[in-house]
Amino acid sequence: MLNKFISRALPYMPQKLVWQFSKEYIAGETIEDAIRASKELNEEGILTTIDVLGEFIKTLDEAEANKKEYLEVIEAAEAAKVDGNYSLKPTFFGLLIDKEVAYRHIREIVEKAASYNNFVRIDMEDSPCTDMEIEIFRRLKEEFPENVGLVLQAYLKRTYQDIKNLSDLNSPEVPLNFRLCKGIYVEPASIAYKDYQEINEHFLQDIELMLKENMYPSIATHDKPVVEGAFRLLEKYKPAKDRYEFQMLYGVTPALRKSIVDAGHKMRVYVPFGKQWFGYCTRRVKENPAMASVIMKAIFFK
Ligand code: FDA
Repeated sequence: MLNKFISRALPYMPQKLVWQFSKEYIAGETIEDAIRASKELNEEGILTTIDVLGEFIKTLDEAEANKKEYLEVIEAAEAAKVDGNYSLKPTFFGLLIDKEVAYRHIREIVEKAASYNNFVRIDMEDSPCTDMEIEIFRRLKEEFPENVGLVLQAYLKRTYQDIKNLSDLNSPEVPLNFRLCKGIYVEPASIAYKDYQEINEHFLQDIELMLKENMYPSIATHDKPVVEGAFRLLEKYKPAKDRYEFQMLYGVTPALRKSIVDAGHKMRVYVPFGKQWFGYCTRRVKENPAMASVIMKAIFFK
């Protein structure tokens, strides 16, 4: 009830107040902020993946501007020698307006990252985007085998089969690199698991399939039982240290993150930044009112 109230009220709250909650989870508004945050993480032995905030744009002019911004971000982060790569959301480039235009923009960004031997991760958005985002990944993976990866969501019932369907792109030299996360959007029960235990079980089954197939799993979770399940699978399949990694969001569960790093596993943190942080935060809370409790705590109990 309270969560619902907060998620509805959030867009009308003063930005300054919302920033009190958001600043823990967002590097700042500028590329300099993202680079500073990334460098601090690098000093702790943590890799990063930088993301410019924004999604579901309305015009293709925005797509062009967003592409240019990503190209500048890559130039700046490479010049600053950030130890990290890049993540992007295809709807930020107009996926839902013209998917070929979005593909061409994303291709240009991957080409730029590839010119630095670097890597771009295609984030996974809500289910109307799933097939299109897999298709974009497939096309790019064929052209830039070492420079592109995809996100898959454990809550989607289709994901285990999607991993199998993409396995023709896997090779021992250049393994498929999937970030597996639980999934953040509200999806219908016909296509998505809803139960916490069920999602966790499928999360671990998907990771196990990736390990069996010698893929490169990027295990993206802050949930301790899932991390412990992943440790058991790593113990069982014994992949080399450079054939998997853990990933977390900026500012979330730093103690668990440190314990994973201290145990000798590779860790990458997702560093979001940009002027559109307010819209991003309010949309996330609208989609997932459970996040409102986190906001409540941050605003009123600090
Ligand atoms: P769970 O939701 O069970 O959370 C476990 C605990 O972690 C919570 O109890 C809480 O303490 C803490 N926590 C989790 N998320 C938090 C947050 N945002 N703020 C504060 N505390 C939090 N999703 C998607 O659909 N597409 C995508 O492309 C991505 N990309 C992505 C990248 C990376 C690096 C990560 C870590 C996650 C994503 N996600 C995502 C989000 C993902 O789907 C999922 O919603 C969150 O990671 C939360 O799920 P957990 O596995 O952490 O478990």
